[in-house]
Amino acid sequence: MEHRRTRALLSDSPAASSIAEPRGLAPRRLAWQVLQAVAAGAYADGALERELGRTLLSPADRGLATELAYGAIRQRRLLDAWLDQLGKVRAERQPPKLRWLLHIGLYQLLASDRVPPSAAVSTTVELAKRGGLARLAPVANGLLRAFLRRREAGDTSPLTAAQSADLPLALGVRHSLPDWLTRELLQWLPPEQADAFGRASNHPPSLDLRVNALCSSPAAVQGALAAAGVEASPIEGLPMGLTLKGRTGDLSQLPGFAEGHWCVQDRAAQRIAPLLDPQPGERILDACAAPGGKSTHLAELMGDQGQVLALDRGEARLRRVTRNAERLGLQSIAVQHGDATALAQQQPELLASFDRILVDAPCSGLGTLARHADARWRIDPAAIDELVVLQRELLDGLLPLLKPQGRLVYATCTVHPRENNQLIEAVLAEHPELQLQQSWQLWPGEVDGAGDGFYAALLQQQG
Ligand SMILES: C[S@@+](CC[C@H](N)C(=O)[O-])C[C@H]1O[C@@H](n2cnc3c(N)ncnc32)[C@H](O)[C@@H]1O
Repeated sequence: MEHRRTRALLSDSPAASSIAEPRGLAPRRLAWQVLQAVAAGAYADGALERELGRTLLSPADRGLATELAYGAIRQRRLLDAWLDQLGKVRAERQPPKLRWLLHIGLYQLLASDRVPPSAAVSTTVELAKRGGLARLAPVANGLLRAFLRRREAGDTSPLTAAQSADLPLALGVRHSLPDWLTRELLQWLPPEQADAFGRASNHPPSLDLRVNALCSSPAAVQGALAAAGVEASPIEGLPMGLTLKGRTGDLSQLPGFAEGHWCVQDRAAQRIAPLLDPQPGERILDACAAPGGKSTHLAELMGDQGQVLALDRGEARLRRVTRNAERLGLQSIAVQHGDATALAQQQPELLASFDRILVDAPCSGLGTLARHADARWRIDPAAIDELVVLQRELLDGLLPLLKPQGRLVYATCTVHPRENNQLIEAVLAEHPELQLQQSWQLWPGEVDGAGDGFYAALLQQQG
């Protein structure tokens, strides 16, 4: 193990390149391994974290490996479409190891503005030779060079004219989205907005912070970060929001993190807790709480006075709520493991006892495709059917826990109407005692030019 680590580090040092391996192979090999692990069923973020933990890379190479792995996983469909055009064998029939290596090479040619084409080709060929595909190295070389020739000739799409006229297909290939999703998107949105959704779903997400008003201020955090060489700027409409620019390295090492002056939370997610308008001294249930982004926000908004009951059925994830609350110095959060759909039955003493309830429901995550590189290849309409049933059970199970006049916010990070407004309309039709105070759908990229897609509905109990 130690030997491998030393080699990996040496490979990134120019002086050592002749005794180890050519420069730049280590981050690309790592990205290739992540693609293979994801094809075998692993989650992209877990696979990347594992590989990064095993290989000693410079910060710049860690960044490159992350960009290549996530980028190539997101763009799988577009990359396959190019391979179908350029090769004699369709992408899906290529030896999988070669297909994923070609994805890494082609992704650099297509999308990475920091890699010269010659480096993208030579490192791919070298990896093929060293990675058990020596016989296929000329194929990799030929395919990547064929792509460069097509691009020089002005070809920017792998589709024929007939294919380009098929709107769902063209949208799906252009933005690497599955057909079922592009067909649905084009029912919800005009073509140019569906296109904007596709673009936002492939744009590396912004890195947003929420400042802890109980112990710091945006100006103080901005100043401390600037002193550490990290630029942070305000986010329009979010008084406690800051967004980071450029490379930041390990966030937990930045000033103010350990002291609980801020936490990481996407700008769209920062809009959810304030909708409940929580007041000091209230009892609030956060029914799907882990890892605690919104529980901690609620506690901060209440001045840490009152109680936030943070419930979740994921026990390991709940431990993160406790850790986050401790780091942010919050005392008002009580953590409970359990199934929110059954809470009213299991603890009848909680009936009509909460001033406010937040249901940040498990969902298809279609508003966060840029953040979760492999999500688009996992989710399908059948999974959405199951989620809608669970979301409805959550709302039906939790409503009896609300006090008269109490408020409930239902939120998701998806854009699918069946999980959002259609679900809320069905609930309202069956619950005349509820009034819809407001609801909105944010599309990805809509908050100050960035941010996840989020839906929220604020319901108030009458009488
Ligand atoms: C969107 S995440 C919540 C994110 C969290 N509110 C935050 O801001 O950090 C949805 C959560 O719902 C939890 N969950 C799913 N089904 C549940 C159930 N029946 N009861 C309680 N929690 C559930 C999942 O474990 C997951 O942690």
